[in-house]
Amino acid sequence: MTKPFIQDLVNDMTLDEKLAQLTQLGPYYWGLDDTVDLTGPFKELNIKPQVMENIGSVLNGIGARNVIELQTRHLESSRQKIPLLFMADVIHGYRTILPIPLAMGSSFDLEAIERFAEIAARESAAAGIHVTFSPMTDLVRDPRWGRVMETSGEDPYLNARVTESMVRGYQGTDLKEPGRIAACVKHFAGYGAPEGGREYNTVDMSTGVLREFYLPAYKAAVDAGVAMVMAAFNTIDRIPASGNSKLLRGILREEWGFDGVTIADFNSVNELVPHGAAQDGREAAHKSLAAGLDIEMMSTHYLNHGAALVEEGLLDISLIDEAVTRVLELKDALGLFDNPFKDADPVADEADKPSAEHLQAARELGASSVVLLKNENEVLPLKRGMKLGLAGPFATSIHVLGGWAGAEKDPAVSLYTGITGKIPAADIVTAMTGELGSMLEGVFDVEDHAEEAFEQLKDCDVILAAVGENQHDTGEGGSKASLRLSANQEKLIRRLKDTGKPVVTIVFSGRPLELAPVLDASDALVQAWFLGSESGNSIADVLFGDYNPSGRLSMSFPYSVGQIPVYYNAYQTGRPYDPQYPNVRYVTRYLDIPNDPLFCFGYGLSYSSFAYSSFNVEAAADGRVLASIEVENTSEVTGKETVQLYIRDVTASVVRPVKELKGFKQVTLAAHEKQIITFEITSEMLMFYGQDDELVFEPGDFDIMIGRNSGDHATQRIWIS
Ligand code: GLC
Repeated sequence: MTKPFIQDLVNDMTLDEKLAQLTQLGPYYWGLDDTVDLTGPFKELNIKPQVMENIGSVLNGIGARNVIELQTRHLESSRQKIPLLFMADVIHGYRTILPIPLAMGSSFDLEAIERFAEIAARESAAAGIHVTFSPMTDLVRDPRWGRVMETSGEDPYLNARVTESMVRGYQGTDLKEPGRIAACVKHFAGYGAPEGGREYNTVDMSTGVLREFYLPAYKAAVDAGVAMVMAAFNTIDRIPASGNSKLLRGILREEWGFDGVTIADFNSVNELVPHGAAQDGREAAHKSLAAGLDIEMMSTHYLNHGAALVEEGLLDISLIDEAVTRVLELKDALGLFDNPFKDADPVADEADKPSAEHLQAARELGASSVVLLKNENEVLPLKRGMKLGLAGPFATSIHVLGGWAGAEKDPAVSLYTGITGKIPAADIVTAMTGELGSMLEGVFDVEDHAEEAFEQLKDCDVILAAVGENQHDTGEGGSKASLRLSANQEKLIRRLKDTGKPVVTIVFSGRPLELAPVLDASDALVQAWFLGSESGNSIADVLFGDYNPSGRLSMSFPYSVGQIPVYYNAYQTGRPYDPQYPNVRYVTRYLDIPNDPLFCFGYGLSYSSFAYSSFNVEAAADGRVLASIEVENTSEVTGKETVQLYIRDVTASVVRPVKELKGFKQVTLAAHEKQIITFEITSEMLMFYGQDDELVFEPGDFDIMIGRNSGDHATQRIWIS
């Protein structure tokens, strides 16, 4: 029910004022960036300066002082004193930078992820931000796409749980609460599936696949009460999302009941024109407004053409009034009409560093996001007192925050610094630590490695090879056709192995890389992602066993880029490959590489060892179906295990994945401790989208699987009707 004062405001607004309220511009249009001639952008965007007084929201105008100044000036000039909404990309932290979301997904630690979002909200709110363009929850299957770093991976269930945790952490239960900000889930929908993994490329999939894999996490955000939804750049069924009524009105509002604000992506209304879905800006504005897209970001077709569309009877004013009402309701939910500055606090915002409490949370979530992929002869954990070699472009680098690193005010802890927190610098020998350039700079390798450097390392007990990709070669606009480490980095690892010393390869990346070429030369292999502010400390905690690695991959690591898309929850096909008969030709296979990824979804090692036994699936007396298994820590080291539940619907009216994650439980077991883990198999877990895009349940055989990852589990078949 719309509050009377909001209804009155809308009724009092002129059409131009309404259209300005539905427009979002960057801060330099207000002259905040004095390097920009204020008349320049106006001319480009054809904005009359007096219109600026009624613009509704600001993109990335962050910094408490900026926000206070801009809000103050705005309210002085605004006829109706409607406060500005400040929005920004706080993707994995603002001052305290936490692990990239793909790493956070690998922690499977939903409580820690919710705590991350609370921290990010507190710091962002102090900087004057009201809305964050997070969670980004686009399901991904193609690591060639640079933005896989921003999402929690390839699984609908995990993405949904991570997304709702983030929404809760950002928003709490009342947006007016100090330290809370509105969340904006993105990019609706399917942006994570560009053909070829090429940024902004065509997305094309059946509605069944869209609903089964790509939509669940956005719906989880809506069900968790997300305040805003951002439309994607891409087309869905040949219609750009920003002008797609079936998507924005049909699914989002009518089917899911979303009544919050929708916003374009950067210039995405205007991009209906190059898409070929609109003749010009006027038609783009018409289609987007008709489709239910409330705010136009960084283009001004609503402003320039909206009034004519209404006056010519092409657009009903009620559509515009609805959109304006939703925007004003969000401002009211944030308390901005009473306190237009909300939590903007220059003192807190300009603190010389993040709080120790926040940094500790980042360190812990970083450690639990690290995935141990190989540990031959238990070369890890490292022992204090040993002499350690440290080589490679990430050995001493502080450029490990990852993309979208919030305020980017504070350097990260390097691996070297983290290790000096464990052992004396005198016990560390560094060599060949020249950093990587980025592909955009054209130098994305390190220099070839001088022989003498190896002399320095040969007396070490263990050598760490810190390798990876430049963080600027990930994120938006960061698509790559090759996923291998650079030639000189692969060569470095092989040369280090030639020393005869154990080699621990530590990979810094924003995506799964192609690590098969260095697997044999690595006695241990650690996926360190980009872990943010506390990166070096988090990794050192794992390397020295102060944190027993518990990360489990949130995305498959391909054996070869030629396999892509490779993901665990695939359809079986009519000619499945059977590894018992490796030479059969006419089955789904390659002649030159395996079908399976190098490391599968859910995979990760521990310093503990866990045994699974007594797997049982039964229909309980009360009709529930229960699946249970005993997990025992057979080692001397306390460890955390993520017990995973997968289900397969063996036969149905449409083909179904060979398995789907339907639950997971994290359990910490002391040495030789055992525990029975039980899951209830609910009807919701067994439902799927049938041929008519309706959620259905069909009785039949189901394979129930519980295990340590998507490739290693017990299985029992049961008939469920
Ligand atoms: C970018 C991104 C989107 C971001 C927006 C505002 O192009 O696609 O994720 O939130 O613009 O910066």
